[in-house]
Amino acid sequence: MPTGPQIILTLKVLVVAVSVLFAAAIVAIAFGRKKLHGRLNTAFFILTMTTVVGFELLLRFFVDVSATFSEEARQALRIHLCFAIPSAVLLPVMILSGARHWKKLHVTCGLLFTLVWIGTFVTGVFFLPHDG
Ligand code: HEM
Repeated sequence: MPTGPQIILTLKVLVVAVSVLFAAAIVAIAFGRKKLHGRLNTAFFILTMTTVVGFELLLRFFVDVSATFSEEARQALRIHLCFAIPSAVLLPVMILSGARHWKKLHVTCGLLFTLVWIGTFVTGVFFLPHDG
């Protein structure tokens, strides 16, 4: 079984990796490259949803949360989930509204999504303790 710090470090690497994709997708749309924005964000969507579902399954069925994580880590995880769950709820709205060209909804939710994603990034990468 993986240790708490191993799980957290893996989560951090994944969050940084998908954030690079999302940042690239924003740069793409800023330059009017709609198709590229759509492709990068489709990859971002698949990888992020896989991470969220995989992480949830791991915590629910494969590790004993109270034995694996310190109280400090559990508190930091709870705060992280306050941002990660709204991000995961908004993602299907983003992919659907983008693909259907519901531009107003897409851009409005996109701004909200960017805020909760910044929260996911900051609480995931800087606040979660991965040093045992
Ligand atoms: C701040 C965040 C975002 C902004 C400002 C933004 C903006 C846009 C704009 C302006 C378009 C063109 C819409 C049209 O012409 O009808 C677009 C298309 C699209 N967006 Fe986004 N978007 C954002 C985030 C996302 C996210 C998070 C996803 C998916 C997870 C996404 C997926 C797509 C897709 C699939 C398309 C269609 C691309 C195509 O036509 O080939 N976008 N976006």
